[in-house]
Amino acid sequence: MIKGIIFDLDGVLVSTDELHFKAWKKLADELGILSFTKEDNKKQKGVSRMESLEVVLSKGNKEYTTVEKEELAERKNNYYVEMLKELNNQAVLPGVIETLIKLKKLGILIGIGSVSKNTPLILEKTELTGYIDQISCGLDITKSKPDPEVFLVAANKLNLKNENCLVVEDSAAGIVAAKAANMKSLGVGPEYKLLRADYSFADLESDIDWNFILQN
Ligand code: BG6
Ligand code: MG
Repeated sequence: MIKGIIFDLDGVLVSTDELHFKAWKKLADELGILSFTKEDNKKQKGVSRMESLEVVLSKGNKEYTTVEKEELAERKNNYYVEMLKELNNQAVLPGVIETLIKLKKLGILIGIGSVSKNTPLILEKTELTGYIDQISCGLDITKSKPDPEVFLVAANKLNLKNENCLVVEDSAAGIVAAKAANMKSLGVGPEYKLLRADYSFADLESDIDWNFILQN
């Protein structure tokens, strides 16, 4: 029986993925890595900032020291945070608010499980903070998805057993992490058919039988 739902943030509740891509692309261009594409960007979904940087650097042929890599990741984040200044509730994906209201009425606790360190800022700018009971994000963890840590921390903060939580994700790494956390998963987003989730839907606007999912 499901008592809490842990939502990934980027690509599940809000449409920030394009901004992540634009910021990485700007950095890649500055580094002369012109072959970085949207296809490469798919590998950055659900993984940490430093691991996402490695995806960009793997497309070039220059070696960087740890200090240089930290500077590059910070530079990308500065571009991203600058773009987030324009973010508002228009970035909330279709069906999200209705789903959160419906789940709350059903007595379900709502958690966030995102490796993004910008999670609190994004929730605030998109006016979603009030719908969320507990946040587990990049600021709480040391290992990114597919490690289950971010979901385990979320379940712990919600005071729920892992098996009573369902994860909603748009990334392959996130679905693997949910399984590793012994949680059921629901996949959404452009790649939903490829995700090996227990349930799959194009988005949260789809006709989802929550009563069935919550009882199983
Ligand atoms: C995830 C995104 O939610 O957060 C990744 O899917 C991103 O693409 C990661 O790299 C880390 O985000 P941030 O905001 O901490 O750089
Ligand atoms: Mg995501």
